[in-house]
Amino acid sequence: MSVQQQEVNKRRTFAIISHPDAGKTTITEKVLLFGQALQKAGTVKGKKSGQHAKSDWMEMEKDRGISITTSVMQFPYDDCLVNLLDTPGHEDFSEDTYRTLTAVDSCLMVIDTAKGVEDRTIKLMEVTRLRDTPIITFMNKMDRDVRDPIEVMDEVEDILKIKCSPITWPIGMGKLFKGVYNILTDETILYQTGQGHTIQEKRVIKGLDNPELDEAIGSHADDLREELELVQGASHEFNHEEFLAGELTPVYFGTALGNFGVDHMLDGLTEWAPAPQPRKTDVRDVAAEEEKFSGFVFKIQANMDPKHRDRIAFMRICSGKYEKGMKMKQVRLGKDVKIADAVTFMAGDRSNVETAYAGDIIGLHNHGSIQIGDTFTAGEMMKFSGIPNFAPEMFRRIRLKDPLKAKQLQKGLIQLSEEGAVQVFRPLTSNDLIVGAVGVLQFEVVVHRLKTEYNVDAIYEPISVATALWVSSDDEKAFDTFKRKAEANLALDGGDNLTYVAPTMVNLNLAMERYPEIEFHKTREH
Ligand code: G4P
Repeated sequence: MSVQQQEVNKRRTFAIISHPDAGKTTITEKVLLFGQALQKAGTVKGKKSGQHAKSDWMEMEKDRGISITTSVMQFPYDDCLVNLLDTPGHEDFSEDTYRTLTAVDSCLMVIDTAKGVEDRTIKLMEVTRLRDTPIITFMNKMDRDVRDPIEVMDEVEDILKIKCSPITWPIGMGKLFKGVYNILTDETILYQTGQGHTIQEKRVIKGLDNPELDEAIGSHADDLREELELVQGASHEFNHEEFLAGELTPVYFGTALGNFGVDHMLDGLTEWAPAPQPRKTDVRDVAAEEEKFSGFVFKIQANMDPKHRDRIAFMRICSGKYEKGMKMKQVRLGKDVKIADAVTFMAGDRSNVETAYAGDIIGLHNHGSIQIGDTFTAGEMMKFSGIPNFAPEMFRRIRLKDPLKAKQLQKGLIQLSEEGAVQVFRPLTSNDLIVGAVGVLQFEVVVHRLKTEYNVDAIYEPISVATALWVSSDDEKAFDTFKRKAEANLALDGGDNLTYVAPTMVNLNLAMERYPEIEFHKTREH
């Protein structure tokens, strides 16, 4: 087996999808603890403990009180090297989250078992469906009085349309939570309270009929035996192919806060989740094992290090190997660039990376020439597909408090739109600047960042815009006519792409009827 193949086989690149408060941050802490990345769990967000996370951009998140960035953490687990891509944790929907999900090979779905399936999870699952990403499920908060686990599992099957295959099954809940029984290994793993911050010594009882089990958990043992019959009748047996096809999810139970069960889930992830998968380009499919380097940028992040006002482009390596100082072709510009100082994300530290393989994420310093969706290769002219921009759903006009700063405002907005933080539209027939977002929080973030990063005081005004769609046409003549006649509704986005800004849906429908040769797009592929 080639070194490239070995390195690829070792890698697992995943993200967590969940509804806010289900426990994503807590699980991330425990996952890092198991990865030996942090000595004592509890430093990722440093919410209550007053401790702060290792990396400086996380510090910024803390100041802002929300997790805006997509950070990346790499850590070893068993024989694997795991890349965990964090997705923004606030309630708002963001395009960053969508695009992060295009850069992973599997997802962990975290469910608050007291609540069941919540709406953010439904939306995120829809996104993972676009690529049939394999899903592992963690039913969290078993140390609380939760809902009937069978009922919650049914809910997952009904609402999310994915078969559930419990790998572990909980014994009791809340104060009476005793542990889990592993259906595949026929072992009971006992829960011990008060060990949320350390790796617990495992107490394992082999065999369901083992009298030790009755000794350890009393009447719960018989309840478990009974319940398991029911569960096995009502659920699906684990099937690896179905899991890889995104049709079936292995389900684990536990409590992230009590640090119980997260390691069972990690065992499943390293054993079953796919190594870096092939990726589509406009020319061909690219396999991770290929020796030649390729990758795409799914995220641009400003201000990761307050001392250096640089921007970092996050690149998912799709094939080959990155080596310090190597040359790559930036396909969109047709230009060869030398990358001497990519950063890696080993356990939250930003350090210079010497080598990285397919499945890894590296950060490139960006001085404005890199855009989301950019493909980098060893020379081949091809472009990775499936990294979308979404039509915004909310619009505001942005105005300056100090009109002399128009230039900075425009520059700031265009840079923020390149990052995907927000979308900006410049109408062809006015000097307005219209900001479009998928979620309302994006507006606040943009004003905040304009002030801190560009020294621009801006305010919003309402504007009646229902939607903005990208337009194109194969018929050049019809397109020219359209551009002339509909000019009052046309605008350029941050990347100078033409969009139709519709004041109402009725207006949009009329335009579509009137100009049948024109295509209106809800997403724009980078
Ligand atoms: P999120 O990132 O998905 O938004 O969730 P986070 O981990 O921040 O967890 C949300 C709340 O749920 C936190 O409590 C956290 O301590 C709690 N929690 C997470 N996992 C478990 C669990 O297994 N059992 C129990 N009982 N609670 C859990 P909080 O009080 O809202 O947060 P904080 O004030 O401690 O930050």
